Amino acid sequence: MPVKSIQEQLAAIDQGRVLRFLDVLPESGRGKLTAQLAGLDLEAMRDLIDTQVRVKAPAALPRQIDPVKAYPREPGAEHRQLYHDAELRGRELLQKGKVGAFLVAGGQGTRLGYEGPKGEYPVTPIRNKPLFQVFAEQLLAHSRDAGRPIAWYLMTSDVNDAATRAFFVKHDYFGYDPAHLFFFPQGMMPAFSMSGEMLLAEKDSLALSPDGHGGSLRALDKSGALADMKKRGIEHLSYFQVDNPLVHCIDPLFLGLHDLTGSEMSSKTIPKANALEKVGNFVFADGAVQVIEYSDLPESFALQTNADGSLRYNAGSIAIHALRVSFIERLNQGGRLKLPWHRAEKKVPYVDDTGTLVKPEKPNAVKLEQFVFDAIPLAKNAIVYTTDRAEEFSPVKNAEGVDSPATCRRDQIRRAASWLRGAGIEVPVKQGEPDAVLEIAPSFATSAVQLGIRQLPEIVKSGETIYLG
Ligand code: UTP
Repeated sequence: MPVKSIQEQLAAIDQGRVLRFLDVLPESGRGKLTAQLAGLDLEAMRDLIDTQVRVKAPAALPRQIDPVKAYPREPGAEHRQLYHDAELRGRELLQKGKVGAFLVAGGQGTRLGYEGPKGEYPVTPIRNKPLFQVFAEQLLAHSRDAGRPIAWYLMTSDVNDAATRAFFVKHDYFGYDPAHLFFFPQGMMPAFSMSGEMLLAEKDSLALSPDGHGGSLRALDKSGALADMKKRGIEHLSYFQVDNPLVHCIDPLFLGLHDLTGSEMSSKTIPKANALEKVGNFVFADGAVQVIEYSDLPESFALQTNADGSLRYNAGSIAIHALRVSFIERLNQGGRLKLPWHRAEKKVPYVDDTGTLVKPEKPNAVKLEQFVFDAIPLAKNAIVYTTDRAEEFSPVKNAEGVDSPATCRRDQIRRAASWLRGAGIEVPVKQGEPDAVLEIAPSFATSAVQLGIRQLPEIVKSGETIYLG
């Protein structure tokens, strides 16, 4: 886009000052800054600044909030036939190539503090496989079982796109055929001063950060990924996030339930660890399934219990979804993704009017992000399906403590032990934990059921290290 046109657009939204160093920039710097600006939806910016940046509106709670009715993990009598049909339907969808895998990995992973894309982080207990490899191996195993490759859409962002691609090249795509692997970066959003001015990180660069995992639904459209899916005949996406190696990237039962119920967006839930656990809460509110963030759900709700003492709002969100491609298309109709923005106040370094870099000591800026779960209330027939924490959720978020590499390693070993026990193999226990280091490669088994039909060691000895691959 020519500089003049950008200047006019910026003037129209009172953001002309962002070009204040333009005259002193070399050609390359001008090009960089104008390209960043051209990548933004400037027209929508003014409204956003007025309603989300300059003012701090409290999160509007729905008028009527009730617990969500989630499908149980194990079907009771009334669901048995549906679950049987769903499992078959899920497999059929995979065999017909109707399902794509969708990994969002555009985040900055600041809490983990790892230099580089989080997907590079080594997580498995014995082989130290990086997160990306765990997912690649799972998807290869599911492709093998389905008898055809599963197309894999992998979203990065400008903060890690080049490094992510280089990592895959270096590892020969972990055996994945690059013809079925579609990398694309998500959009970026500038940080704003509290008074609503776009901040510059350098004279020739906005202070940009990824626009949230909700931005994935726009990036699918803008990048041509949706068009690629149409070409391949893909109707559903299995969505997961980069930090949870326990996720079942592909789950035929869940995908089948999603399809047979006509759901446009389905979600997995787990019972919360405690009333105030820091996970989103699935609720049924104002006529729709939705997620209320832990920070927005008043304690007067979070602490409510049922007659048997169990939590009334007990459906935690673990960011695993199935989405219809047609739904994502509809969300993007009219050229603008129909999701709200969330505001967060952060410390963002910026260059001041003299061109000096300022490193603030307290929050000085507003960042805006979109969240993928905000699409749920816009979906028809949205369903929520219950799974087990031990089976499917142990994210690597922090360097230490809860949700850290150490807890994730422990949980992978626990799950492997539980799968082995399910197959009739005894696993020794010491101080309540499996007394062995265990790792099951996805190519060996992607589920407890599959493990049951494999050739297994007769016993696991105390202190043993066993890799099943
Ligand atoms: P988190 O909410 O944990 O954010 O992302 P993060 O940026 O990775 O980590 P912190 O908060 O800085 O420590 C959950 C998932 O959503 C993806 C992440 O890559 C991760 O898979 N995500 C997040 C995106 O793809 N884009 C974003 O803009 C934000």
